[in-house]
Amino acid sequence: MTPAALSMDSVVVGRSARMRAVFEFLRVIGNSESTVLITGESGTGKEVTATLIHQSSRRKHHPFVAVSCALFSETLIESELFGHERGAFTGAIKDRPGRFELADGGTIFLDDIDDVPLSMQVKLLRVLQNRTIERLGGTRTVPVNVRIIAGSKRDLKQMVVDGRFREDLYYRLNVLPVALPPLRERREDIPVLMAHFLQRYFRRTGEDEPQISDAVKQAFMRYGWPGNVRELENACERIAQTCTCGTVRVGCLSASILFRAGSQPADPALPAPSQPQQAAPIALDDRLRELESNLIAWALKVSNGNKSRAAELLQIKRSTLGDRIARCGLDRSHQVGETSRPETMTPASLPDGDTGLRRGSVADC
Ligand SMILES: Nc1ncnc2c1ncn2[C@@H]1O[C@H](COP(=O)(O)OP(=O)(O)O)[C@@H](O)[C@H]1O
Ligand SMILES: [Mg+2]
Repeated sequence: MTPAALSMDSVVVGRSARMRAVFEFLRVIGNSESTVLITGESGTGKEVTATLIHQSSRRKHHPFVAVSCALFSETLIESELFGHERGAFTGAIKDRPGRFELADGGTIFLDDIDDVPLSMQVKLLRVLQNRTIERLGGTRTVPVNVRIIAGSKRDLKQMVVDGRFREDLYYRLNVLPVALPPLRERREDIPVLMAHFLQRYFRRTGEDEPQISDAVKQAFMRYGWPGNVRELENACERIAQTCTCGTVRVGCLSASILFRAGSQPADPALPAPSQPQQAAPIALDDRLRELESNLIAWALKVSNGNKSRAAELLQIKRSTLGDRIARCGLDRSHQVGETSRPETMTPASLPDGDTGLRRGSVADC
């Protein structure tokens, strides 16, 4: 794969020590054919990592088939994975290959393996051991040449202890374990991920990338991100779509996920209610300037740029508003061309300042 063929969507970004360790492991396993077990909460990047592993392997020119085992009922999952022959069950009107056959020569990513019922686990174990499948209702044994990557959001080892996951299957899957930490445990990744997603969005639209205010960055850093990177990606997309003023301020986040119950306060002038022993200093003047700037931007937005109306909303004189707009730099905000580039790595730059891997880059290192 040439660098030009690599899409921005294929980038795995991270600069935390934990993600660097993951990148290092992926580099080490490089061209291995062994089964990989990727664990991590929903949204931590299991699928994108599985794709990266596939694209970095010798199988990269063959299919990558991802299937969520959580999506199918106990009866459907077997036909989904192994296929069926005509007449195998009501509604099976023709022969249909399963995902294993479709992935032949390539990689299958069995996501949500922790949702596979025990009855099905024994059948998966057989595939892992024999590398053959049998279609539902069929009599033929079909060999499959497939590399298996499994994804789990639960601790499979604990599930084994609880009797909910077969121990033999667990050991067959857990050959090369990759543990993706939740985003709240690798907060250093938040700014690079944020910059990455915003840059990707504005590249697509061709618009100038806005600057991100410090208060927004701090709000992102404070938030718990229960939905992990997926939630962060959605939040970035949302602010990219709603911010029209050249600089993303807390005011742009009004409808944002950031201020849902359980999150931090929406008032940009207030610091997070941290524990006394964790209290960090806040620069009052900066925060007040930012609040002022947010409120002026808001008033200009709702008054469609009509300064007299905006001044009325803010209950100040029009001339005062003019001065403050100039002081906050809002008169220039539509021309902001300065961009804050995310730290995203190209394959060539990987050995040094690792902040990310592109799909296809692991084997190159
Ligand atoms: N480290 C990362 N760098 C860039 N994008 C990421 C990263 N981790 C996750 N994503 C993106 O977040 C979204 C959710 O990731 P996904 O791999 O589907 O998570 P999971 O399979 O663990 O639920 C995807 O759009 C993915 O591309
Ligand atoms: Mg997933």
